[in-house]
Amino acid sequence: MSAQNITIIGLQWGDEGKGKIVDLLASSCRYVVRYCGGANAGHTVTVSGQQYPLHLVPSGILHEGVRNIVANGVAFDPAIALEEIDTLRERGITINAENLSISSSANVVMPYHKLADRLSEQSLGAGKIGTTALGIGPCYSDKAARTLAIRVADLLAPETLKEKIARIVEIKSKTFRSVFGYDEPIDAEGIWREYCDYGKRLAEMIVDTGAILRRAWQRGERICFEGGQGSMLDIDHGTFPYVTSSSVSACGVPAGAGVPPKAVGHVIGVIKAYTSRVGAGPFPTEQDNQIGQYLRERGKEYGTTTGRPRRCGWFDAVAVKYAADLSGVDELALMLLDVLSGLETIKICTQYRFDDDKIVQHHSIPLLMSSAKCVYEQLPGWDERIEDVRSFSDLPTNARAYVQRIEEFIGKPIGLIGVGPERGQIIKHNTGLENIVI
Ligand code: IMP
Repeated sequence: MSAQNITIIGLQWGDEGKGKIVDLLASSCRYVVRYCGGANAGHTVTVSGQQYPLHLVPSGILHEGVRNIVANGVAFDPAIALEEIDTLRERGITINAENLSISSSANVVMPYHKLADRLSEQSLGAGKIGTTALGIGPCYSDKAARTLAIRVADLLAPETLKEKIARIVEIKSKTFRSVFGYDEPIDAEGIWREYCDYGKRLAEMIVDTGAILRRAWQRGERICFEGGQGSMLDIDHGTFPYVTSSSVSACGVPAGAGVPPKAVGHVIGVIKAYTSRVGAGPFPTEQDNQIGQYLRERGKEYGTTTGRPRRCGWFDAVAVKYAADLSGVDELALMLLDVLSGLETIKICTQYRFDDDKIVQHHSIPLLMSSAKCVYEQLPGWDERIEDVRSFSDLPTNARAYVQRIEEFIGKPIGLIGVGPERGQIIKHNTGLENIVI
C-alpha cells in the first residue's frame, strides 16, 4: 500500500527546488501534505513564466483535484497563510475547503513568537543563528513546553482562547522584560481579536487532517509529503544549533502528518548541483569568492522568504550521502544543473579530513563539519546552454559525467534533472516512478 506514496525532501540546507518537483508530481497525487516547518519555507513554482512563491500553502495548490494539507507538524501562521491565500485567489487560483485543509492540532505562530525570535537573535549578536525571524523556533519551543502553546483548534473557541492568550502574554511580558530588557506592552486583547478573526476566516478548512490522511492511505489514494527546508537543517540530525526547529527529513513525516511510518513511501531526495545555505553555521564547501558569486548570480540565490543573499559553494557528497542515508532515499532529483554551465572545472567534495582524527569517533557528520577540511575531486565543466535539453543523452558529455559521478558517490539513481525554473525544464533520467508526465 505504501509504495505509491511519495515523500519529497531536501538533502542540503533547503532551497533545493523541492517545490518544482512536488508541482511536477502533484497531478498524479490526491493529496499534497506539508508536515514540518512553517512560513520560513519558500517554495517557488514557475508556470508559464509566472512565479508562485509559496510559504505555507502546499505546492499542489496549482493543480485541480489535489487536496492540499497543512498537517499537525507545521508551525502555522494564520496571518501569513491568509495573505498567501488572498494573493493566490487574486491570481485566479481557486482555494476553498475542498482543496486546502489545516490541521486543528497544528501549533499557531503568535505575534510574541516573532518578537521573541527577533529579541533572541539580537541578544546573540555575532553568535546568532540567522533565522528567518518568523517566530518558528519560539512557536516550537512553546509546543514542547505544552502549557504555553496555542493550537489551531483554539482559534475556534474564542472564550478559551481569550483566557489562554491573557495568561501567556503575562508570562511572555515578564520573560521578555527580565531576559531581554524589553518593556513595550503586549496587547493581549488586540491579539485575541485578531486571532478570533483568523479563526472565523479559516474555520471551514480546519479539520483532523491526520484522520483524513490515514483513511486516504487505507483506501490506496496517493499522498505526496512535501518536506520543508533541508535535512542539514533538521532539529535532531542537522548542523545543530544552526538548524530550524522541526523534523524536516523523511523521519519527520509520520509524526508531523499523523500517519504510520510505512506511509512514507518512495522517498525522493532533492539536491542542487552545488550547495547553498542561508543564515549562519558550518558549510565546508562554501566558496566565499568569485565561484560563490558566479553560482549566486546564475542561480538567483536570494531567499524566497527573506530576500537574503545565500552563501554558495561546491557540491558536498559527504553531507548529501549522510542525508540520503538518514531518510532512506530511493532516488535523487538533481536541480539547477544549468547554473554550472560556463565553469571551466567543477569540484565535488568527496571526503572530510581533520587535523585531530580523534574527534571523528565521537561526532556525527553535521557536528564534524565545523572542523572539516574538504577533499575535492575535480571534473571538467561545459560551456553549452542546457536549458532546452530534455533528454539525458543530449546533455554535454561533461555534464553527463558530472551527473553520473554524483550517482556513484551517493549510491542512488538520479531520477530527475532540473535545467531551469519552468515546470517543463526537467529531464527524466533514472526514475523509479512511472507515469511522470512532463
Ligand atoms: P528558522 O527556521 O527561521 O528558525 O531559521 C533557522 C535556520 O534555518 C536559519 O539558518 C534559516 O536561514 C534556515 N532556514 C529556515 N527555513 C529555510 C528554508 O526554507 N530554506 C533555507 N533555509 C531555511
